[in-house]
Amino acid sequence: MRSIVEFDALNPDTRKSPWRYYQWLNETAAPQSLYKLPHESNFYFVHRYEDVASVLMNPLLYSSQIYPDREIPFFPMMAGAEHQRIRSILQSLFTPRAVRELTPQIEQIAQRHTQTLVNTASGDLIDLWASKIPLNIIAHIVGHPDDLASLTRLRTQAVALNTEAFPLGGTGERQIGQQGLIRRLRQLYSSLAALPAVFRLARHVGLSGVAELTRYIGNKNVPPGTPRQAVSRGNPAHRLVLITQFLATMAQLFKQHIQKPDDTKIISRLVGAHLQGQISLVEMMMAVLIVLLAGYGTTSSLLGCAVHRLANDQPLFDRLKAAPDEMDGFVEELLRYYGPLQRTARRVTQACQLGGTSLAKDTQLIVLLGAANCDPQKFDRPALFDPQRSNAANHIAFGRGPHVCLGAALARQEARIALQTLVSQVSSIRLRPGREPEYIVDRDTGMYGFESLDVMVTA
Ligand code: HEM
Repeated sequence: MRSIVEFDALNPDTRKSPWRYYQWLNETAAPQSLYKLPHESNFYFVHRYEDVASVLMNPLLYSSQIYPDREIPFFPMMAGAEHQRIRSILQSLFTPRAVRELTPQIEQIAQRHTQTLVNTASGDLIDLWASKIPLNIIAHIVGHPDDLASLTRLRTQAVALNTEAFPLGGTGERQIGQQGLIRRLRQLYSSLAALPAVFRLARHVGLSGVAELTRYIGNKNVPPGTPRQAVSRGNPAHRLVLITQFLATMAQLFKQHIQKPDDTKIISRLVGAHLQGQISLVEMMMAVLIVLLAGYGTTSSLLGCAVHRLANDQPLFDRLKAAPDEMDGFVEELLRYYGPLQRTARRVTQACQLGGTSLAKDTQLIVLLGAANCDPQKFDRPALFDPQRSNAANHIAFGRGPHVCLGAALARQEARIALQTLVSQVSSIRLRPGREPEYIVDRDTGMYGFESLDVMVTA
């Protein structure tokens, strides 16, 4: 086994199997303190449970507004009253009570996709099941038509917007260097494909709306020394096309919800608040973006990890089938062990001490939720996956403090119902021999999970 010389959160090995790196961080590298990247002057990793919790609980000192001089109209990256102004518009749709009321819809959606999986008998679990359930549920809550093809398209467009507008997650990898003239011309030519969507967008929000919506796109203005995504991959012109399509589709949905409001849907809530002057057009667009992205990929990853675990542990599968009341413990341990969001970021707002380390103003903190969930000071034998663990629910997979996951109750309910439906309708699930699971490694948003997972299902 290679020995660990440096922690690198973007390294594919770390991404696929972060646990031994977390053990190294918590026990060997810096048992008393934070871990600093040797070649970066401004970045620290926060890895111990107590330190992670105290950073998240102290938003005045550790701000989610990670760019010091650049306000971004994206509520997870806003602070104080401004953040609360937008979060409070959506909050009542995600309370435990509101989520309980969604139970019949969640059951119906889980039932439908589990039936498809059983009928198909073998294939990619992520595509057939783990991604489809959260996608349909989030569409229902957002107020988007329940049509999987257009939802999947929308999701691809949302990822493109996220990549361009919020280059978050990495530790400072540099931008792509100078591009050749031919390449630039080719990109310019490809951008022309965005024109129909630009016209569609202008029809719904006017030219001033287009200007407002596009102001924040493009990560060229990110100051050096701030966390950024490693170089965005793929063709930027193609991403521009996807982004304008996303904005145009959203603008059209906003209009439909003005004409026919439904207060149980996110878009109607946002549009209502916009008409009363509580939220701007761009803030509204970004709020839908975060709900679509956060509400889908995370839960999908959790379901994928759950099935990977069950496929390798038939006794656990049989136990959950026989004793449904053990499902809650299984879901909490999944969240602790396979937290779908392994890290987040904060900026130090004034010189301070954390974990015995002195931090200067504007130091960037990469907050390792995944490592905190493996801290031996908090969880006994943290590398062991134990669905009976008595304190699993103390995990920090949903964050903490004012930015704690808005969809935590929903994610838990989705996971319980989807997994319960699966174990009750299937007698076994196996990984397909010779087909290696594909991990999420080429995105830099701190997500853990599988891109694809080939399985065989016995009804
Ligand atoms: C297993 C599934 C999920 C996990 C592990 C997860 C994790 C997280 C974490 C760690 C944060 C806090 C980030 C920070 O403090 O910087 C967060 C925030 C958020 N999550 Fe989730 N999430 C999940 C599912 C969902 C779902 C289903 C939704 C549905 C809408 C959602 C919506 C949000 C939103 C809107 C925020 C931003 C909250 C704010 O800044 O006020 N998440 N999530």
